Amino acid sequence: MGGLNDSVITEIVLLAFSCSWEKKLFLILICSLLYLGIILGNLFILFLVIFDSHLHSPMYFLLANLSLIDVCLSSTTVPKIIKDHLHEYKVISFQDCMTQICFIHIMGGVEMVLLIAMAFDRCTAICKPLHYLKIMNPKICISFVITGWVTGVIHAMSQFLFVIKLPFCGPNKMDSFYCDFPKIIKLACTDAAKFEFIVTANSGFMSMGAFFLLILSYSFILITVQKRSSGELSKAFVTLSAHITVVFLFFTPCILLYVWPSPPPSIDKNLFIVDFAITPVMNPAIYTLQNKDIKVAIKRLFKKIPYSRLC
Ligand SMILES: *[C@@H]1O[C@H](CO)[C@@H](O)[C@H](O)[C@H]1NC(C)=O
Repeated sequence: MGGLNDSVITEIVLLAFSCSWEKKLFLILICSLLYLGIILGNLFILFLVIFDSHLHSPMYFLLANLSLIDVCLSSTTVPKIIKDHLHEYKVISFQDCMTQICFIHIMGGVEMVLLIAMAFDRCTAICKPLHYLKIMNPKICISFVITGWVTGVIHAMSQFLFVIKLPFCGPNKMDSFYCDFPKIIKLACTDAAKFEFIVTANSGFMSMGAFFLLILSYSFILITVQKRSSGELSKAFVTLSAHITVVFLFFTPCILLYVWPSPPPSIDKNLFIVDFAITPVMNPAIYTLQNKDIKVAIKRLFKKIPYSRLC
């Protein structure tokens, strides 16, 4: 890649790490706890879905894929942020920075498509229950997952190929805990407005498009349920409102970061926690705790473990 050789910057200083020790301690603590929750929660779901044959259905395959992506998405930033706080590192090499950006956008793209696939799955189950298994056949599920990965890679690469061609010769300080397109573009020593637009158009429109599609499908589900019976509505509403909460939690930071040209630094800097640590830890909780099949599967699992019957 010629772009890399032309650039003069070899490392980037992440100013956000120069904060007070109280804030450092707080971030280390909160990030470590959330990351532990993400790993344990999501790996548990993955384990449950893979090993319990009763959970071999479209919804749970998608859920397991979502868990895997949640682990990957938070692993793009959270462990590095914890480690850098502990070692007082403030610099990241240009290559590491670009790698981090690519992984964030690949995983983010997959996550968006999976959330849409899961909404479509619920839509089908509730609105067309008799045709559910015919519509959500294994082929469709696999194509959802493949579409997710292809979308993620195209989305990340299309921006990366623009950014890598920019000349980076001047300032190398960024007020952030991690690398991302809107920030890195501001460091380019050209008129970056055109490129800012490309990133906004790509990441911004993608998050807004996915967000509206999701809100539309959940509204459609709610309207369908409401037409049937009021008893069903309240039960469905609890489940669906949890899903809608995740959608809002995941997309609000995305839209703020990519559509809003210059958010206040305090918001801008700390918003990462929501997407990389809070949503990934909420997903397993929301999709499993209210779910009868998963509860039964957990009971089945404990019955299989010797000695657990003693207590
Ligand atoms: C992801 O989804 C595909 C398609 O349904 C499925 O075959 C695969 O097992 C899932 N992956 C995991 C880790 O569950």
